[in-house]
Amino acid sequence: MSKNQFVPQPFHLRVDRRRFFRSMATVSAGFTLPGFLAEALTISPTVTQGPYYPLARNIPLDKDNDLVQLNDNLTLAAGVVTYVGGRVLDSSGNPVSGALVELWHADREGDYLYSTSATRNSACDANFAGFGQYLTGPDGRYWFRTIKAGLYRGRTRHYHWGITLPGEKTRTTTQTGWNEVARDLNGAVWETQNSNDNVFSTVSNAAQRSSMLLDFAAVEGTTTGEVVATWDYVAGRTYTEPTYPNGGRLVVAGVPVSSGGGRFRITVPAYVGYSYEVYANPTFADLGWKALPFALTESGTLDRNIHTAASEGSLDLYVAAAATKGFFYVSYRVPGANTGTP
Ligand SMILES: [Fe+2]
Repeated sequence: MSKNQFVPQPFHLRVDRRRFFRSMATVSAGFTLPGFLAEALTISPTVTQGPYYPLARNIPLDKDNDLVQLNDNLTLAAGVVTYVGGRVLDSSGNPVSGALVELWHADREGDYLYSTSATRNSACDANFAGFGQYLTGPDGRYWFRTIKAGLYRGRTRHYHWGITLPGEKTRTTTQTGWNEVARDLNGAVWETQNSNDNVFSTVSNAAQRSSMLLDFAAVEGTTTGEVVATWDYVAGRTYTEPTYPNGGRLVVAGVPVSSGGGRFRITVPAYVGYSYEVYANPTFADLGWKALPFALTESGTLDRNIHTAASEGSLDLYVAAAATKGFFYVSYRVPGANTGTP
């Protein structure tokens, strides 16, 4: 079962990928090395999410990994086009597949897509997406096209990152900066540098602080000043892939239960954060494809079509006796995956 059937699809870029990856190779010596250098890994420090993560009800519709072009606009965001990519690794150096990487940052002038209001910040560049997501593949890689973040009072230049490993329900947040002297748009040295920034300067471990401050190199073959940096996010924990499979579908026999009006119990393996739906098969009776309502207890109300597991182990779902042969399809999706009939 291809996992691509279950993950958000709109990740795309309309740029020259070959040029991008060639540039990435020139600035990252260990880009394709497997996990045997684990002892040399520096765990990415967790720092504040900050106040400007998009509000849940306002996450922009355009949330692909291209922040430079909003939807199909002809006008691109103002600023130095910047590529950043790398891998999501666990604490042993193994690539993590299916990790959700989120990036948000200020526009060229230092304004966020969302400030403190519930609507888009009118001061923010109208052509800047401001926020993007990428779901890593089997090699753990992610990449974004964006712009160099603008400066705003109280901070030096920085990107905000959220990383959600498969099976986890909350993102871990960190930030990256520029290994440079920050200057404003007029070329004047900015008042807040990495050394006195209230996020970077408070990361006490020198190796960790250094890992947050990226070196950006000119993109090979460009005349427009585009730059590129690589950054590996190293989780401070081990991630065991076999525990958390890709989304998929199970064919499960329902076990008749005595109470609840002739219901069937469907038992499936549970993974934290995965969502489950039950479908009847169109070859059974005349039900067609539809998500069946179910209950979580034998005699509970059939009041839900989807359930997100909160603990590992097994999960019992109770449906009315709908499938004449007693078999059901149960779809299960990784955290963050698209909804819709599988
Ligand atoms: Fe910020």
